[in-house]
Amino acid sequence: MRAVAIEGGFGLENLRVVDRGPPPALRAGEVLVRVGAVSLNYRDLLTVRGLYNPKQKLPLIPCSDGAGVVSAIGEGVTKWAVGDRVMPTFAQGWLAGEPTREKLSTTLGGPLDGMLCEYRALREEGLVRVPEHLSVEAAATLPCAGLTAWRALFDHGGLLAGQWVLVQGTGGVSVFALQLAKAAGAKVIATTSSHEKAERLRAMGVDCVINYRETPQWAKPAREATGGRGVDVIVEVGGTGTLSESLRAVKPGGRVSIIGVLAGGVGEVSLFPVLMQDVRLQGVIVGSREHFEQMCRAIDAWKLEPVIDERVFEMDAIVDAMAHMAAGAHFGKVVVKVGA
Ligand SMILES: NC(=O)c1ccc[n+]([C@@H]2O[C@H](COP(=O)([O-])OP(=O)(O)OC[C@H]3O[C@@H](n4cnc5c(N)ncnc54)[C@H](OP(=O)(O)O)[C@@H]3O)[C@@H](O)[C@H]2O)c1
Repeated sequence: MRAVAIEGGFGLENLRVVDRGPPPALRAGEVLVRVGAVSLNYRDLLTVRGLYNPKQKLPLIPCSDGAGVVSAIGEGVTKWAVGDRVMPTFAQGWLAGEPTREKLSTTLGGPLDGMLCEYRALREEGLVRVPEHLSVEAAATLPCAGLTAWRALFDHGGLLAGQWVLVQGTGGVSVFALQLAKAAGAKVIATTSSHEKAERLRAMGVDCVINYRETPQWAKPAREATGGRGVDVIVEVGGTGTLSESLRAVKPGGRVSIIGVLAGGVGEVSLFPVLMQDVRLQGVIVGSREHFEQMCRAIDAWKLEPVIDERVFEMDAIVDAMAHMAAGAHFGKVVVKVGA
């Protein structure tokens, strides 16, 4: 089978399509998934560059997110049948409850091999059924970005209809968050660096769009959009580079879900607004299988269609796909087709 591997060292130059021989043999309790598509996360780019976990052992098949069809089942498998459409959970061992170090050491795309291969053998409990209305390409976007947005809004954010949400930029997590927030009846403020992307955000029903290049201090217009009250839930993907603005934009008693580090992961941020205004800061690390199943039920009920970037790549063009993402040229999720 064909796979993409990071081999011989980190860096995009060490990402290559390799032949891994026949599909993996199944052990008891395992399911063989014929992968149809994967989607890229910023984490995958950091992993390839050796910045996510410099101690990661190589070779590694990257990418946590994918979807495909069950092509064989191992002895004792009861949950799945050949032909079922499935997605892997981000952390294979995190089925429910609180995360633990052990559960978080079972993530795909590092330290475990990921989904960018034609066939992947996975434990039967590490899979979730694809919502019926979604294509395999669309389903491949859900396991990490979709679930992270879901948990930021509903699990940690406690979002209610009519409340205000702020999302930053037009990457995978943020576009999911805006779609989920709108579906739940919330109002959305989105920042972006591009006029063209601003138009797309407005077309998606975003209530207030702010260009963060032209208006680096976007907290003021964001608060104004809420009638001065402040934002209820902020989906913070910028990190230390944007957190100060988020803390100015959030309402007293509001929630900031700390997800990403696109504008910096280390730096000084004043904690005064947090303690003076009863703001809740909460880190998010994707979610468990139980969270994933909850989200899929909502996606099914809302018939939500994930936004896939207009450039969809073939497996052979993986370096171009990663470079496309690195350039921030995408809107929504970057998808790579796998197999025939
Ligand atoms: N904690 C978790 O569980 C978890 C899960 C998933 C992702 N993440 C993290 O969340 C972040 C986003 O991931 P992703 O996969 O959605 O990334 P992505 O798709 O690569 O997002 C890229 C987009 O982010 C926007 N952006 C970049 N710098 C920005 C800034 N200073 N202010 C506002 N927007 C900015 C840009 O949008 P415009 O082009 O519109 O300006 C850019 O196109 C990453 O740091 C990732 O590692 C964490």
